[in-house]
Amino acid sequence: MNPIRHFLQFKDLTAEEFAYLFERTKQIKSYFKSYQLYHPLVDRTLAMIFEKQSTRTRLSFEAGMHQLGGSAIYLNTRDTQLGRGEPVEDAAKVISRMVDMVMIRTYEQEIIERFAAHSRVPVINGLTNEYHPCQIMADIFTYIERHGSIRGKTVAWVGDSNNMCNTWLQAAVVLDFNVHVSTPPGYEVEPERAGLYDTTHYEQFDDPMDACFGADLVTTDVWTSMGFEAENDERLRDFQDWQVDAEMMAHAGDQALFMHCLPAHRGEEVTAGVIDGPHSVVWDEAENRLHTQKALMEYLLIGKLA
Ligand code: CP
Ligand code: NVA
Repeated sequence: MNPIRHFLQFKDLTAEEFAYLFERTKQIKSYFKSYQLYHPLVDRTLAMIFEKQSTRTRLSFEAGMHQLGGSAIYLNTRDTQLGRGEPVEDAAKVISRMVDMVMIRTYEQEIIERFAAHSRVPVINGLTNEYHPCQIMADIFTYIERHGSIRGKTVAWVGDSNNMCNTWLQAAVVLDFNVHVSTPPGYEVEPERAGLYDTTHYEQFDDPMDACFGADLVTTDVWTSMGFEAENDERLRDFQDWQVDAEMMAHAGDQALFMHCLPAHRGEEVTAGVIDGPHSVVWDEAENRLHTQKALMEYLLIGKLA
């Protein structure tokens, strides 16, 4: 029997596996767009555990599983014994005896790692404080749809060195592209927390304009991520000069794309002009969560199709 594969951080899969997944995504997306039934996961069940809020992640996994012929069960901390202190290890043993796959959105990465270590079935990271690998998979597929391979390209990350930033940095190593990072002082990348074993694919810039210069893709995220709300006022002050605006996009160039995982705060990390403007591909990014995750679930459950 093949060992169970999890997707807990971006580097859990290889460049070859991502190439395969992006090809499958194209195919699976075309079935969806032409109303063609595709049910490889009949009778398979996905448990989705949410310890934080979500719109896109819940919807894309639940709809995706349904469209593949399977079903999805939504669990949250409030309504389950997880919220009353049942050990993660026990929950993993029980839940993974009843379903075929588990998706978890939680706080520390350590929680999902512990869950996976005791799970009999594949576990997918639906966002932790440290990483958001499913989002970056969708973002890179969105880039490929517009401009082809991301290999050798430059992504400018402007803002907080959060779960999205860490995952871009991992993806750059796996898929061989560059990330220019600009964060306010005190919010710099922590390579160890980002799970980086190779720091040659990113460069830190004090001035966000310099980070954006010549970039193929400019991306940002909220200034205050879920779980860090107590720092909101301080962050509002500290991040004022890290708003992606028309001038930054002009520095990047005509062909540059703008991405944001959403939800966005217009007037904070990005201007309305940019997110609703011609460079922005945020709605494609959101939709591609559905298609890329369907390819991922198919792969984790039934492997490579011949
Ligand atoms: N981008 C993203 O993960 O959105 P949700 O928080 O709505 O799931
Ligand atoms: N960095 C954000 C992403 C939300 C999808 C957060 O963790 O809240």
